[in-house]
Amino acid sequence: MKVTVIPNGPLLIETVGEWQYSGEASSHKANDRVAFCRCGASAIKPFCDGAHKKSGFAAPGGVCELTPK
Ligand code: FES
Repeated sequence: MKVTVIPNGPLLIETVGEWQYSGEASSHKANDRVAFCRCGASAIKPFCDGAHKKSGFAAPGGVCELTPK
């Protein structure tokens, strides 16, 4: 699994294969990637809806590759 912290944007999770989010906010499916809001401005939390672009959210980015042991 690859986790990318988008500069001034969401937390992007890339997986291998389909996944399903089981939190209270909504049922959400995707094939291999999903973006979680970091700015707090999204109308579809915990997911990013692009609102960070208008909110002026500023934060550094980075990348983390997670592999099972
Ligand atoms: S990070 Fe995209 S809407 Fe919050």
